[in-house]
Order: sequence, then C-alpha cells, then structure tokens
Amino acid sequence: MTNRKQYIENHKDRFLSELFTLLEIPSISADSAFNQDVLDTAQLVKQSLEAAGCDSVEICETPGYPVIYGEKLINTNLPTILVYGHYDVQPADPIELWTSPPFQPVIKKTETHPEGAIFARGACDDKGQMYMHVKALEYMVQNNELPCNVKFMIEGEEEIGSPSLEWFVKKHKEKLKNDIILISDTGMISNTQPSITTGLRGLSYMEVTVTGPNRDLHSGLYGGAVANPINILTQMIAALQDENNRVTIPGFYDNVEELSLEERAEMAKAPFSLDAYKNALNLGDIHGEKGYTTNERNSIRPSLDVNGIWGGYTGEGAKTVIASQAHAKISMRLVPGQNHEHISKLFTEYFTSLAPASVKVKVTSHHGGHPYVTPTDNIGYLAAKKAYQETFETTPIPQRSGGSIPIVALFENELESKSILMGFGLDSDAIHSPNEHFGVFNFLKGIETIPLFYKYFTELSQK
Ligand code: BES
Ligand code: MN
Ligand code: MN
Repeated sequence: MTNRKQYIENHKDRFLSELFTLLEIPSISADSAFNQDVLDTAQLVKQSLEAAGCDSVEICETPGYPVIYGEKLINTNLPTILVYGHYDVQPADPIELWTSPPFQPVIKKTETHPEGAIFARGACDDKGQMYMHVKALEYMVQNNELPCNVKFMIEGEEEIGSPSLEWFVKKHKEKLKNDIILISDTGMISNTQPSITTGLRGLSYMEVTVTGPNRDLHSGLYGGAVANPINILTQMIAALQDENNRVTIPGFYDNVEELSLEERAEMAKAPFSLDAYKNALNLGDIHGEKGYTTNERNSIRPSLDVNGIWGGYTGEGAKTVIASQAHAKISMRLVPGQNHEHISKLFTEYFTSLAPASVKVKVTSHHGGHPYVTPTDNIGYLAAKKAYQETFETTPIPQRSGGSIPIVALFENELESKSILMGFGLDSDAIHSPNEHFGVFNFLKGIETIPLFYKYFTELSQK
C-alpha cells in the first residue's frame, strides 16, 4: 500500500467526522434566514485550512458573503496551484422528501455506492468535494510531499451566481496569480470509468411576468372575454421551442460552435446506456433536439427550460378566477460561441414580441455566465490524467458537462489561467435534489488523487 493510501486509511474516520461537522451547518446562500450559518461556515473553513497547514488564512470581506483565502508558498520558482471551491449550499426543500434530515449527515449504502455514501445537503456540491482538497493538503504537508505552491479561494455565493466573486478576483489579481486552477465541483462517469470535465455550459437566467387585467377576475363573468395571463404565458413559452425541440429565438444558434463528426464520434465512445438512463429517471422516453444524442443534448448543445411557473389559484379545492398576473423563471444553458448577455437580449426581444396586445410583458435577467472548455493537450489536463490513471488504474475520459460554474470563464479572462475540473461526484448523487449524497469511496479517492495532480503538474511544468 502506498504511503498516501495508508495515511488516508488511518485517518478516514476523522476526515469523515470533520466533514460531518461542516455539513451540519446549513450554509444556504439563497435564503437570508441562514445568514449566520453561512458566516459560521466561513469560520469553520478558515479553521480547517489552518489546521491542514495553510500559512496565512484570511476571511476576506466582500459586498456579499466572505471568500476564504489561504496559501502555502514554498518556493517562488515552483508552480502555483489555485484551488477554488464553495462552502454555500442549495436550499434543502422539499424537505419532506429527504429520507434523513438534510443537515444531519449519515452514511447509507446505495446501489451505486455499496460501500456507503454521505447523505446531506452539500455532501457532493460542494462541501465534500472542497474538503477533499483540504485533506489532500493536510496529507502533503504532514508527509513533506507538497511539491509546489498552493493557494485556496473558497467562496460562499456560488449557488446564487457568485455575485461578489468578480469584484474579488479583479481586486486581488496579484494575490490570486497562479499557473493552474484546480476545481472539484463537477462529476465523473462512474466509479469504474473516471472522467475529467473538459467543458461547462454557460447560463442565461430570465424571469418573465405577463400582466392582463388590473385585478383577479371572476372566471365566469369574464372568462372568454379577456386575455388570461396564464393561458397567454403558457402559449408564449410553448412557442419558444419548435417541433424538433429547437429553440425558436431568432439568432439563438447563430454562433454556436459545431463539433466535427470526428469529435462527436469520439464523444460517443464514452460508456452510456440509454435504458439505464431512462430507468434511473423513470422516463417513458427520452426527449431533445432532433439530430443529437442524449449526451450531446446535455453538453455540446444549448437548451432552454422553465424552472418555475406560477400564478392564479393553487390552493386546496377550486377557485374560479382569472389571475391578473402569471410568472415564470426560464433558464438557457449555453455553449461555446454563445454570449450570455447577447442571448439574454435576444430572449427579451423575442419573448416580448410574442405577446398579444391584450397583455403586458416584463422580462428581467438574473445571473448569467459564459461557457468554458479546456483542451486535453494542456499540461493541467495531462497531469490530471496521469493522477487518475494511477489511482483508478484506468485511463480517464474527457467529458463536457451540462452544468455551469460561471466564474470559471471569468478566471480565464481575469487571471489568464485554465481551470482543471477534477470532479468526483456521480450524476446519481442528487445534487440540488432531496437526498443529495457523496460516495465515501469518491471522497477518499479524491483525497488520494489530488496529491498526484500536484506531483505531475509540478513535474510537467518543469519540463
Ligand atoms: N457544482 C455545480 C455545477 C456542476 C455540477 C457542473 C455538476 C457540472 C456538473 C454548481 O454548484 C451549480 O450548481 N451551478 C449552477 C449555476 C449557478 C450560477 C447557480 C448550475 O449549474 O445550475
Ligand atoms: Mn457546486
Ligand atoms: Mn450547485
């Protein structure tokens, strides 16, 4: 057994109990009722970085929740890795669907995690994955194996679109200077087929309100004679996609980078079972843009989804009413070539144009973010590949993800460095859903693999 494996084996109970303490604090950035919990979590992250061996750790104030910054600089001639992660989590609702309380972590066995998985909000996204980096640092410091400089930047607003991080990054460019950014906030194909995330989709998130009459109306007295905002809103939403499930917004696909047939054939080699996919989600059939596979639809192609829709009477029983207003939240996932500001503008123009004169429409834009891709010939990717090869004893596959970490494109522009996305979660880990979990195997494998990334990145940088 390697020294690294032995160390992890000896300390794994402590690693897990420390992670549990972190998971017990409900650091929900979206809900101001949890303000103090988010701040308490920031303190705990600071303490854990200090305990792991960071030399100077600071809680950096921002206009929003603080960023935790820590570093261990050993030699200016050696490369510097900047680790990014987030300590905030998604809201836990619907709470009644959790099989154990979201902030009382427990280990339970699942089909994909026969050796157990940690069930808690944030277990995978991102406290568990962020903490792998803290424990990997502890290992390297304790065993004199830290081969290069390291900086940590752990934020508390990722789940609400990182509103303060752009400000922070622009203000601290010098402090954050690095040779590569390392992030574990994505997933991989399976525990036997690791993959390295080479792309993230961008995001444009809109909210729309359709207003009809100036008050809620009796649906008998007025039904059929006035425009019902809910009826109109649903028609407008339906018009956003055509019979081939393509987005109808003029110009939406204009700059989308198309992959070559060779690249698509390469992608199609990744192991994937449509039946297993359908079964896991209890789907009667799959759905999506004509001409593309399921894996293409959720990675290299843009999409449009309604995330929430409300209006009128939704309480118990029946109430005969025509609501004055109807609302929806609509997100678009974007791919390279698409600019989120431009897409938000195209959406606004088109959506407004779909409205009949009988209603008024208001469109507002929430957060957005640019897509990101990383080439597989970059030394960061090659170092990650070697690290996985060694710990999983199989070659990892590059895979573009459908999710978004909007700040990654900003890092590339502001800090001029690439991000390597070494995610250890699985799609079945239910991030953002009830019963989020993270495999104990995945947590420990991450701690084992990360130090090898440091080692190979340092070696490859010196060639
Ligand atoms: N960690 C996720 C993103 C992710 C998960 C990417 C799995 C790839 C694979 C991140 O915390 C997240 O949830 N991002 C949001 C966007 C953000 C602006 C709220 C998302 O993708 O919806
Ligand atoms: Mn995340
Ligand atoms: Mn998330």
